[in-house]
Amino acid sequence: MKLQNKRALITGGDQGIGRGIAIRFAEEGADVVISYRSHQDNADETVKEIQALGRKAVAIQGDVSVTSALPKFFADAVAAIGPIDILVNNAGVEKRAEFLQATAEDYDLVLAVNLKGPFFLSQLFARELVSSKRGGKIINISSVHEELPFPNFASYCAAKGGLKMLCRDLAIELAPYGITVNNIAPGAIKTPINANLLDDPAKLNPLLEHIPLGRMGSPEDVAGCAAFLASSDADYVTGATLLVDGGLLFNYHEQ
Ligand code: BGC
Repeated sequence: MKLQNKRALITGGDQGIGRGIAIRFAEEGADVVISYRSHQDNADETVKEIQALGRKAVAIQGDVSVTSALPKFFADAVAAIGPIDILVNNAGVEKRAEFLQATAEDYDLVLAVNLKGPFFLSQLFARELVSSKRGGKIINISSVHEELPFPNFASYCAAKGGLKMLCRDLAIELAPYGITVNNIAPGAIKTPINANLLDDPAKLNPLLEHIPLGRMGSPEDVAGCAAFLASSDADYVTGATLLVDGGLLFNYHEQ
């Protein structure tokens, strides 16, 4: 087991990739706090599944986009399971709109959930690690769209591009404290964020043609990589983005 007796906080751990990571971390011996915004039933299910593995699991309600509430959110997580060793900034949201139609409201939401939340939650986590003289690991669930344009999702690309540079910057700033910072960049993963796509063969089939491995990814595909980055096997890895995309990002060929 890679994460024996570690404690992890996973935002958006009630569903999709976050849920997969929470379960995998527990299988690797970690206790976990998952946060959820609105799906308490999903969160309760995830907690039960983890408890059945013999690990401690607690779900806390919280919206990472509300930065003023993050100090209490983080304190609640610590109170629930004890000092956190691993933070997974997973919660994410995307809003589809042609650039010419995009609204300030959607922009604010997408940037707040995907970038501002991780920024300030990482700050709280890092401050606590530094003051208690402990190292730790920050893992951001980014996207292939930290590199790859995604027409009609400009705000999402802006947020994920920002998350790429946040990772690189924090990796350097926090290295002296024994804190590593890495991104995972999933490609097309079967999760609620792309439910529309999954239900529409006219959209799904052209996407599958662009994936060299020929299938969508699963939350478990991402979770295994998160477990690696969270473990001591990755102690010398920082500032990296690990692509988990079936080859999607760099797939180019000519007829
Ligand atoms: C997005 C999905 C998209 C996938 C591949 C993810 O970051 O959330 O909507 O299908 O990237 O483009």
